[in-house]
Amino acid sequence: MQIHHTIASLRAALAGQGPVAFVPTMGNLHEGHITLMRQAREHAPVVVASIFVNRLQFGPSEDFDKYPRTFADDCAKLEAAGVNHLFAPDETEMYPSPQRYHVIPDAAHTDILEGAARPGHFGGVATVVLKLFNIVQPQVALFGKKDYQQLMVLRNMVQELALPIRIVPGDTVRAADGLALSSRNGYLSPAEREEAPRLNRVLRQIKAALAAGDQDYTRLETEAQDELRAHGWQPDYITIRCRSDLQPPRAGESLVVLGAARLGTPRLLDNLEI
Ligand code: PAF
Repeated sequence: MQIHHTIASLRAALAGQGPVAFVPTMGNLHEGHITLMRQAREHAPVVVASIFVNRLQFGPSEDFDKYPRTFADDCAKLEAAGVNHLFAPDETEMYPSPQRYHVIPDAAHTDILEGAARPGHFGGVATVVLKLFNIVQPQVALFGKKDYQQLMVLRNMVQELALPIRIVPGDTVRAADGLALSSRNGYLSPAEREEAPRLNRVLRQIKAALAAGDQDYTRLETEAQDELRAHGWQPDYITIRCRSDLQPPRAGESLVVLGAARLGTPRLLDNLEI
């Protein structure tokens, strides 16, 4: 795997190399990311990953400085997963001067769910991803479904700005008991870790109820939140939405059920397409 810290070095290495599949990350890689890297190989002969902790998507009181940086470990994992090129710029390479041009996604897509308490977060994600797309110029880019709202925003950005890039979603990688893999799972105590798969279970119960013809979305959402509360969780939302824009269900639209809830200190996220 070649490691590039500058745009010029990456561009020189990719010139004439053929189609690229790209997986952007902020590092601290787990099996979910590595599965995306392996999947990328099925889409193009050249696989490029990036590691860049993007200041633009962190709020002033968020953990930008404390975000785990595990570069050596990450490189070993990427190498083992067969990634050809890693783009790992530092901040002065990506933002040599403060970024003054931004992608501003539709507020209806960003001020809800994960964006409700994180003003500017999805604009920061969209801005860096557009910039990374321009640097890497991939034909295909892969994003995990675990961050469903991020995937939705980026799909809409690519479509509305007519970017010649195919977005490929990666299925959420789960532990055997159903818990979605996340770096935050490391913060769970042993007892919380045992309780944690309940979030996935309540989403699966909703999916089963909908498949059986139940259409009382509000009751299903409320019952799921009550069940979590009864087991010590503090749910932020359990909600059934349209996949395409995460707005409330509309006739004829494919749906997804999304959940976010705190269990002790860690806040866990999950979703299931219906
Ligand atoms: O999902 C992430 O790790 C980040 O939001 C992304 C897409 C790499 C942009 O910084």
